[in-house]
Amino acid sequence: MSLAPTILVTGGAGYVGAHACKALAVRGYSPVVFDNLVHGHEGAVKWGPLEIGDIADRARLDAVIAAHRPAAVMHFAAFTYVGESVADPGKYYRNNVAGTLSLLEAMRDHHIERLVFSSTAATYGTPDSVPITEDAAKAPINPYGQSKWTAECMIADFAAAHGLRAAALRYFNAAGADPGGEIGELHEPEAHLIPLAMQAVTGDGPPLTLFGDDYPTPDGTCIRDYIHVADLADAHVRALDWLDGASGANAFNLGTGHGASVRQVLDAVERVAGKPVPHSIGPRRAGDPAELVSDPAKANRELSWVPSMSDLETIVATAWAWHRR
Ligand SMILES: NC(=O)c1ccc[n+]([C@@H]2O[C@H](COP(=O)([O-])OP(=O)(O)OC[C@H]3O[C@@H](n4cnc5c(N)ncnc54)[C@H](O)[C@@H]3O)[C@@H](O)[C@H]2O)c1
Repeated sequence: MSLAPTILVTGGAGYVGAHACKALAVRGYSPVVFDNLVHGHEGAVKWGPLEIGDIADRARLDAVIAAHRPAAVMHFAAFTYVGESVADPGKYYRNNVAGTLSLLEAMRDHHIERLVFSSTAATYGTPDSVPITEDAAKAPINPYGQSKWTAECMIADFAAAHGLRAAALRYFNAAGADPGGEIGELHEPEAHLIPLAMQAVTGDGPPLTLFGDDYPTPDGTCIRDYIHVADLADAHVRALDWLDGASGANAFNLGTGHGASVRQVLDAVERVAGKPVPHSIGPRRAGDPAELVSDPAKANRELSWVPSMSDLETIVATAWAWHRR
C-alpha cells in the first residue's frame, strides 16, 4: 500500500462527503471525489481531485477507477429528500439502488474490497422502542429509507458472494459544519431543521414551520438524535481502517444516544444567534415518529468512536459560523 492510499468518494462534493474528504486527508489518505454535481458543489472539493460522473455510468466509473486505482470506496452519492421519494419513487430507486448496483459491480470487477456506505436511521422506520440498536426491525416507511435498506441488502449479498468487506453507517440527524469553517451544509433545497431555522432568523428564508407540538414528548415536539458532521466524518475513517481486519457486511448506528426536541434545537439557535427564530406551529407531518434516538454502543466499542462535537451548542455554533460566512 502506498503512503497515501487513494479512496474513491462518491458524492464527495455533498455535505457529509466533503467533510469525510477532509477527515481522510487529515489522516493521510488521498480522496478522489466522484460526483455528478446534481446536488454537490465544486467548491466543496478541496482535498483531492474532482472527477465529474454519474455512478450509473459504468464506463465513466471504470475509467476513473483505472486512472486512480483506489484502495477502497466511500459511497455517499444518493438522493436524500424523503418527500420527493414519496412523490417520485422511481427517481430514488434508480439512483440509490440501481446506482449502487452499478458501483458494486464496478468494485467487484476492479477487485476493490472495502466499502463504507452512507445509510440512515430511515431504514428502521417507526421503531418499536428507543434507543434503536442495529438489529431492530428494518421497516422503512418511505421510498428513500427503502432504497437505502435495499442497497444495504445488495451490499450484504455482494459481501457473501464476492468477498466484499463493508460497513453501512446508519446516521441519525447529521448537523453542524466543519469547525475550521472550510465547508458546511449547503442543500438546495434545504430540508434540515437547523439551517432552516437559521435562514428564518437572518431573513434568508421564510419563518419556520414546526410540524406538530402535540407529540407524546416532554415539550410536545419531535425528538431526534443530532450528530455533528465532523464526528460522522471521523467515524467513516475509523470504519475504513476497521475494515482492514474485518469481513462481510457490517452495520453501525451513528448517533449520540441522546435526543433533543425541535424546541430545544430552536432554543439553541436563538441563544447562538441572539435573536428569536420566527416560526409557527403546523400540523404533524405524515410518517414522523415522535422519537428517534440511536444506541451507538456498537460503534463506540468496535470503532473506538466517541463523538466529541455533538453537543447541541457546538453543533449550532459551527452551523451558525458557516451560515454567517
Ligand atoms: N444529511 C443527513 O442528515 C443524512 C442522514 C442519513 C443519511 N444520509 C446519507 O448521507 C449521504 C450524503 O448525504 P448529504 O446530506 O451529504 O447529501 P448531499 O445531497 O449534500 O450529497 C449527495 C452528493 O451525491 C451526489 N450525487 C447524487 N447522485 C449522484 C450520482 N448518481 N452520481 C454521482 N454523484 C451523485 C450529489 O451531487 C451530492 O454531491 C446520502 O447517501 C444520504 O442518504 C444523510
